[in-house]
Amino acid sequence: MGANTKEKNILDSVIYSYSSDTSQMSEENRILKETVSKLKEELDRFKVPPLMVSEVRNVFGKDAIIRLPNGNQFYVRISEECGKVKAGDIVLTDQKNLTIIKKIVITRQFDIESFVIMEKPKVSWKDIGGLSIQAQEIKEVVELPLKKPELFKKIGITPPKGILLYGDPGTGKTLLAKAVASSTNSTFIEVVGSELVQKFIGEGAKMVKEIFELARKKAPSIVFIDELDALAAKRIEVGTSGEREVNRTFMQLLAEIDGFEPLDNVKIIGATNRKDILDPAVIRPGRLDRLIHIPIPKNEARLEILKIHSRNMSLSKDVGLNGLSAQMKDLSGAEIKAVCTEAGYFAIRENRTSVTRKDFLKAIDKVKREEDAEGEDYMKMFG
Ligand SMILES: Nc1ncnc2c1ncn2[C@@H]1O[C@H](COP(=O)(O)OP(=O)(O)OP(=O)(O)O)[C@@H](O)[C@H]1O
Ligand SMILES: [Mg+2]
Repeated sequence: MGANTKEKNILDSVIYSYSSDTSQMSEENRILKETVSKLKEELDRFKVPPLMVSEVRNVFGKDAIIRLPNGNQFYVRISEECGKVKAGDIVLTDQKNLTIIKKIVITRQFDIESFVIMEKPKVSWKDIGGLSIQAQEIKEVVELPLKKPELFKKIGITPPKGILLYGDPGTGKTLLAKAVASSTNSTFIEVVGSELVQKFIGEGAKMVKEIFELARKKAPSIVFIDELDALAAKRIEVGTSGEREVNRTFMQLLAEIDGFEPLDNVKIIGATNRKDILDPAVIRPGRLDRLIHIPIPKNEARLEILKIHSRNMSLSKDVGLNGLSAQMKDLSGAEIKAVCTEAGYFAIRENRTSVTRKDFLKAIDKVKREEDAEGEDYMKMFG
C-alpha cells in the first residue's frame, strides 16, 4: 500500500509538471501567433501602394477633374465608397487609374506668417546716402498714394501699383523699400523669389496668394519681393516640371498684381540684380511699371554713405572722409559699410579707441581685394 501511494504521488507530480509545461507552451504559442499576425499585418501595410494626393477641380456626377501636385489635370472616376466630393476638396487617388478613393481633410499645411518676414522697419530716409532722386520717385509712387489717396482721385490719375528697383548688389534696394515702409508706417512683408520657388515646391502659387491676403489684412502694407528674377525670368520653353512650377507661381503673382486696385493700400516693390532676364510681363503697364535704377554710388553719394556709416565711430582727427571716399571708387554702399567695420576692427586689434586714416586705408584695401577675389571666382566659374 505504502509503495503504491508513493508511486502515485510521483506519477501525479509528473503529470502536474507536464500539464504546466503544456500550458506554458500554449501561452508561448499564443504570443508567437500574435507576433506573426502583427508582422503579417505590418507587411501588408508595406505592400499597399501609396495613394496620390490631388485636388478636385470640377465634379461631373460620378466623374471629376483632378489636379495632380505636378500641375497635370486628369478626368477620373469617383469610387462608390468615397461619398460626395466637391471642387476644392483634397482627395486620395489611386496611382494607376487615378480613381478618387477617399476624401481627406488637410489642416492648413503652413502658417504663412511664419514663412515670410513681416515687420515694421525703422529705416529713415536719412540712413540712405545718395539716391535722393530715386528716393523722391519712390515717395511719389509709393508714399503719396498711401498717404494721400484723395489727391489722386481729385486729379483723376491712378498711381502705379508697384515699382521695380534694379541695380548691383548692395546698393541700397532693400534699404529704400524699408525706408518707404517705415515712413508710411506700413507693414513690410518681405519675400525672396528664389525661396518661394525652392523651399515651397508645389506651394509657390498658394504662397503668393496667401502673401497678398496677408498684405491686405495688414494694410497699409508693402510687399517686397527680393530676387524677383528667380520668379519672373524670361523662359524660352517651359519644359521641366520645376519650370512649370515657377511659371505657375509667377502667373499667380501677375494675377495678384492685376487683382487689386491702384489705390488699395497695398504696394509692391520688386528688386533684382538682373533686369536683363526679367519677363516683360511683370513690368507691363499696370503692373510694376515704374523702373528705378539704383546705381553704384558716385562721388557725392559715396561721401554721404561714408558719413552715415562712420557717424557713430570714434574717428581720429587725421581721417579726412573726403579723401577716403575718393579712394573708394566703384564700391557699393554695402562695401562702404564693410570698410567702416573693417577699419574699426583694425583699431580694436591694436587696442586703440579711435579709428585712424591708416585703418581706413587698410580696410579699403581689404574690401577691394575681397571684391576682386569674388570677381576671379566668378570668372573661373563662368569663363
Ligand atoms: N545708399 C546707401 N546708403 C547707406 N547705406 C547703404 C546704401 N546702400 C547700401 N548700404 C548699406 O548696405 C547694406 C546692404 O544694402 P541693401 O540690402 O539695401 O542692398 P541691396 O541693394 O538690397 O542688395 P542686394 O541686391 O544684394 O539685395 C545696407 O543695410 C546698408 O547698411
Ligand atoms: Mg536686397
